[in-house]
Amino acid sequence: MLLHIPQLLDAKTLAYCRERLSAAQWEDGKITSGSLSASIKRNQQLAKDSPVAKELGAIVLQALNANEMFFSAALPSYVMPPQFNRYENSMDLGNHIDNAVQGILGTQERIRADVSATLFFAEPEEYEGGELMIEDTYGVHEVKLAAGDLILYPSTSLHRVEPVTRGVRLASFFWVQSMVRDVGERAVLFDLDTSIRQIRQQAQSHDIATQLTGTYHNLLRRWADV
Ligand code: NI
Repeated sequence: MLLHIPQLLDAKTLAYCRERLSAAQWEDGKITSGSLSASIKRNQQLAKDSPVAKELGAIVLQALNANEMFFSAALPSYVMPPQFNRYENSMDLGNHIDNAVQGILGTQERIRADVSATLFFAEPEEYEGGELMIEDTYGVHEVKLAAGDLILYPSTSLHRVEPVTRGVRLASFFWVQSMVRDVGERAVLFDLDTSIRQIRQQAQSHDIATQLTGTYHNLLRRWADV
């Protein structure tokens, strides 16, 4: 399931982050990649432990925490610290599937990547190319969103970033370990939760919404590991 979450960041927060990113020190993305992915990675990244990556990462995590759609779709048990990348001058990222298990910098912890996420920091008209191309069973999807918008997709998906031929593409990316590891079960829960939210807005629907909410929690109880 691909899910577009509009305006994860409000205009003021977005402007602040963009200002910090434009003044930041960027390094070659190959430094932070394993040997396998170094050959396909032509971009720039912020060092994971740099003050700006930590500060903006915390801002992104806070916005995710406050976002009901993100919680409903990802059912997160752990969100990796967000990282930040930059593409210009024909930089791109070749086709790949994200690593299944990832270590967390400065800890012994590992998480399983169930959901991959990209948060856009540049407006689509600020750069040419740079589409995030995601393949799933329904074909190839081209994703290029407004600044402040987020895309979620299953970490099992093959994906790439097309060359940026004009301007600069700025984004954040991160992985989520979900309480519900199965993508099909997560999709059922998301659909049900979305319907319950809609039904709650209708008058006289209280009893049926309560019943469905009970069903939702009983499914979550069957499928979630926390
Ligand atoms: Ni990737």
